Amino acid sequence: MENFTAVILAAGEGTRMKSNTPKVLHKVCGLPVLTYIIEATRRAGAEKIVVVVGKDAEKIKQFYEKDDIEFVVQKERKGTGHALMQAESAARGSTHLVVLYGDMPLVTAESIQGMAELHREQKAAATVMTAKVSDPTGYGRIIREGNKVLDIREHKDATPEERTINEINAGFYCFDTSLVFSALLKVENNNRQGEYYLTDVIKILNREKKRVVAFELEDPEELHGINDRRQLAQVQNLMQKKIIEDWMEKGVTFINPDTCMVDYRVEIGRDTIIYPGVMLEGSTKIGQGCNIIGPCRIKDTVIGDFSEIIMSQIDECVLDERVKVGPYSNLRPGCKIASRVKVGDFVELKNTQVGEGTKIPHLSYVGDGVLGKDINIGAGVIFVNYDGYKKHQTVVEDNAFVGCNSNLVAPVTVKAGSYIAAGSTITKAVPEDSLAIARARQENKVGWAAKRRNKIEGGTKGDGK
Ligand code: UD1
Ligand code: CA
Repeated sequence: MENFTAVILAAGEGTRMKSNTPKVLHKVCGLPVLTYIIEATRRAGAEKIVVVVGKDAEKIKQFYEKDDIEFVVQKERKGTGHALMQAESAARGSTHLVVLYGDMPLVTAESIQGMAELHREQKAAATVMTAKVSDPTGYGRIIREGNKVLDIREHKDATPEERTINEINAGFYCFDTSLVFSALLKVENNNRQGEYYLTDVIKILNREKKRVVAFELEDPEELHGINDRRQLAQVQNLMQKKIIEDWMEKGVTFINPDTCMVDYRVEIGRDTIIYPGVMLEGSTKIGQGCNIIGPCRIKDTVIGDFSEIIMSQIDECVLDERVKVGPYSNLRPGCKIASRVKVGDFVELKNTQVGEGTKIPHLSYVGDGVLGKDINIGAGVIFVNYDGYKKHQTVVEDNAFVGCNSNLVAPVTVKAGSYIAAGSTITKAVPEDSLAIARARQENKVGWAAKRRNKIEGGTKGDGK
């Protein structure tokens, strides 16, 4: 089917979620439920997407502000038929209409496309996506005659005999636009829920001798809906499995996939090995041949090829190739790490640039730093970047050597090739190729300890004179 408009119904109240967040904005693998349906619809070829929203209209509109989506508001929740009616003027422009329910994020573009294709081939007035499931409780049942769908009976309105039907209404449809809107005018609300059911247009179209067919899905897994937190977790698990299996197919090793979290937008290069307990979040991109050893949390970060991250947290950073991090380091937003850098154990980095081959192996805080190439930062070095009011920058140039347990009080510069003696507190610029010592000079009092010992121990052990 060439062009179609899609209407996504998302005006339900989501009461069973018991949440202040609208149901369709709850996240599954890093993205709101509604985003999956919008993307699948777009990939299936929708030229226009209309979303029907209800009481949380503003929050949802705000979230999709930058997307090309038209919103219509259903002020009162009077049923799915009533919801679609609100979209009439927004949807009138195209001949074909695809209608989807907003709480089913596992549906694929291929399924929507398949339904649309069948609709076109069959020259149908309506096509209903269906599936046979082992437990149809709660769903609308498909009443068929051969390939023709005669009616959809809601669970609550069904007779015991109708309830034995195991083919259910998925909640996705393809319609001839003008026929569905004229049929909707004839829908009544004389049912158990007192609602205007969209599903009633099926029997109305049949009455008018229009053709309604079923597009039966082979994999009913796609039809898991989200109505409560239990189903949210189920859908999360199914989506997570799909994402990880997809990466395994592309050549990524997961040692224990059940313990890992990989968001939908994450990318991973081939031959990378993901150990147990790794969380890859947001728009993280991992290169090829990396080892990511958990527990690790990596969010909105780029990691170059052949890097190794061990038991660390990295958030909004960019790492070049062959970088080593960890164990137990924390890379906070804004770090740019060049190739072959080593950030060892118990290091905190924030808003810092680190040049090629530099090493920060142990127990340091490096904040607001600009570090050149091949620098060595000794154990326990602190970049003193905050004066209680403002943050200041520290610059350390190529080949410098910062001795253990030094403080670099920003703003300050350590020029290329210089040495900082261990334990120094540096407050002034250090010139090129120099040694800076900024600590109290050591004085040795030879024999002092022995004398003291004698005085104390000699006194008590002696005869008391
Ligand atoms: C609906 C179908 C049922 C199908 C099932 C599949 C109807 C009458 N029934 O039942 O046949 O098997 O989905 O999951 O359509 N909504 C609105 N405004 C309203 C009411 C609902 O926008 O006034 C939206 C909801 O946000 C939701 C969707 O429509 O995204 C479906 O509504 P819901 O109440 O969940 O329908 P079900 O009882 O699940
Ligand atoms: Ca539902």
